[in-house]
Amino acid sequence: MKYAILGDIHANLEALQVVLQKCQELGVEKYICIGDIVGYNADPTECLEIMRGLSPDVIVKGNHDEQAASHEDLHGFNPQAALAIEWTRQKLSDEQRNWLANLPLQRTLGTKMTLVHATLDMPEKWGYIFDSLTAEASLHYQFTQVCFFGHTHVPLAFEKFGGVTGGKYEEIRLMPGHKYLVNVCSVGQPRDGDPRAGFVTFCTDEMLVKLHRVEYDIAATQKKILEAKLPERLAHRLSLGR
Ligand SMILES: [Fe+2]
Repeated sequence: MKYAILGDIHANLEALQVVLQKCQELGVEKYICIGDIVGYNADPTECLEIMRGLSPDVIVKGNHDEQAASHEDLHGFNPQAALAIEWTRQKLSDEQRNWLANLPLQRTLGTKMTLVHATLDMPEKWGYIFDSLTAEASLHYQFTQVCFFGHTHVPLAFEKFGGVTGGKYEEIRLMPGHKYLVNVCSVGQPRDGDPRAGFVTFCTDEMLVKLHRVEYDIAATQKKILEAKLPERLAHRLSLGR
């Protein structure tokens, strides 16, 4: 089975469309989404409906999904992200917000893989995994060989075999007895200095995880952000991949 694991789409329709086109070319059979379908960019309803329409095996909730679905104050969000969430709340229907609110924080798919947006030790706290120490805290609660996560928008992978090591990756062949915690990059707002949309495929026959990057029409996404009167910085950062 060939899965595509998409995350941090963040209402970027142009990026999502090219990623799905690429998935078709790659022969993807099933989809998984590790959260943050909405927030930051200007097409939340379209991206939400596309993702639902794909009937992914698993969709877990991201922090932006949670906030867009609630009426609560936006503590912990930077001013630009908070403005985008307020804007997103007005765009989504009650039904769509309800659907987001009811997504699970984490899921295990069979005996194969675990899916979470932020961390496995305290998924509801929305912590960030950037190093081996924070990776180890999550790996402690990981009972499958691989866990895919997002939230940092930075494609790093961690491997536990005795100790925990980690870093950038392009492809990983999963070894028996080793555990892996893999960040799937971001479809709609990558932050590793590469502005191309990012996602991962996982082929369970070959036990092979692969990172993919695809170019999309960044200018079109930026134009929509500005037309929607969302913060200019949200448009600017897309060209930087930050
Ligand atoms: Fe995100």
